[in-house]
Amino acid sequence: MSAVRGEFSSRFGFIMAAAGSAVGLGNIWGFPTQTASNGGAAFLVAYLVLAFFLAYPALMAELMIGRHGQANAVSSLQKISNKPWQKHFAFAVGFGGILCAGFILSFYAIVAGWMLSATAEPIATLVGANTASTWLSEQSLTRNIIFTMIFIVLTVAIISRGVENGIEKWSKRLMPALLGILFALIAYVMTQDGAMEGLKAYLVPDFSSIFDAKLLVSALGQAFFSLSLGTSVMIIYGSYISKKENLVSLGAYVTLIDVFIAFVAGLLIIPAMYVAQAQGVEIFSATTGKLLSEDTLVFQVLPALFDGMGEVGLFVGFSFFALMSIAALTSSISMLEAPVSYTVERFGMKRVQATWLIGALIAIVSITIVCNLSSLFGLVITLTTKVAQPLLGLMCCIFVGWIWYRGSLLKAIQEGNPEVHNTLFWKIWPWYTKFVCPLAIGMVFLHSLLS
Ligand code: TRP
Repeated sequence: MSAVRGEFSSRFGFIMAAAGSAVGLGNIWGFPTQTASNGGAAFLVAYLVLAFFLAYPALMAELMIGRHGQANAVSSLQKISNKPWQKHFAFAVGFGGILCAGFILSFYAIVAGWMLSATAEPIATLVGANTASTWLSEQSLTRNIIFTMIFIVLTVAIISRGVENGIEKWSKRLMPALLGILFALIAYVMTQDGAMEGLKAYLVPDFSSIFDAKLLVSALGQAFFSLSLGTSVMIIYGSYISKKENLVSLGAYVTLIDVFIAFVAGLLIIPAMYVAQAQGVEIFSATTGKLLSEDTLVFQVLPALFDGMGEVGLFVGFSFFALMSIAALTSSISMLEAPVSYTVERFGMKRVQATWLIGALIAIVSITIVCNLSSLFGLVITLTTKVAQPLLGLMCCIFVGWIWYRGSLLKAIQEGNPEVHNTLFWKIWPWYTKFVCPLAIGMVFLHSLLS
């Protein structure tokens, strides 16, 4: 326990790292697909409301616990627990979150591996390696295993370098690159036929469906996944923030960036779908009007669109999948940090060893999933993101609202933010996290179980 803890060296560094964790396949793939299959703009409106009114307060709960505890998730939660049962409860929630982060990484690495192979494919085509390019674009066990492993090794390589030289440095490089590619692609898609129709479907809401229960459940799940909540990741990132920083505004920036990027990704993907449709690619079922292939949207519709562009398509395709891979990498490093920081602090293991060890365990789980894709892939996603994440996020709100001594909590809010008692946050957030968040998250969760 005597090892010096890492810390983010700057506000910008923290924002890039936390936003890097938040912005991932969930934003660029998950959000637009969900939007397209849940009635377009209505989903967007529900998502925006839930992200700001439920996910942001829950994010603040996790960041606050971590910054106060200055330690991994288990120790941080135990620090605000007072009775023995609370300490056990803290262990269950903290450790549960760490496990959840590990399992999320194990399926995330598979999807990210698909993104990596799709990035390599245009290069193979360009140099005329046609067999390689076909192999890269077709689902196969070998391809999936190889690219999943490459992705895990990349993640391990960054995390083994620690907070400042690993997480922070790479997030600061990768996040701006991601934004640049995203905007360049949007500019291109907007010039194509069909783009405007897509824009309309995305931005003009059909309010009749907005209170649809399924839509609300999906939107909340999406918001939680996107802010990486309930998995102890944000507790750990919070613990690397100096007590001199204004946490309330940092959390707000991260939420804003996350929502903004999801929104912008929608501006790319949804018009791109309509452009592909205008070029004769089938997207919506002719009979039901539903999206044909939610899962394969990114791997079928978009490549079809890129193919239609001719030579430029190779570059656009390459940029797009490079973008996806980068977004996945800045997210996956946060998932790996959860178990690694716990192992380092709890068992005094060296960071490099802990990282490779846990990376290897996760690789084993990933490969097991890859070999049983049809039975395990969906199951692990449902259990981690639909069950564990909302439940654990709810528990974090309960810790803040019901277990943490109020005096100590209020002091933690004031840290780095002496003027906070003049703000709305001070007046509302403590009771909001105590009553509204647990109730609302609980209701949505129950509903998703029943339906
Ligand atoms: N938020 C990321 C995304 O949108 C995924 C993610 C990163 C995540 N870290 C996490 C999800 C931790 C759950 C837990 O893709």
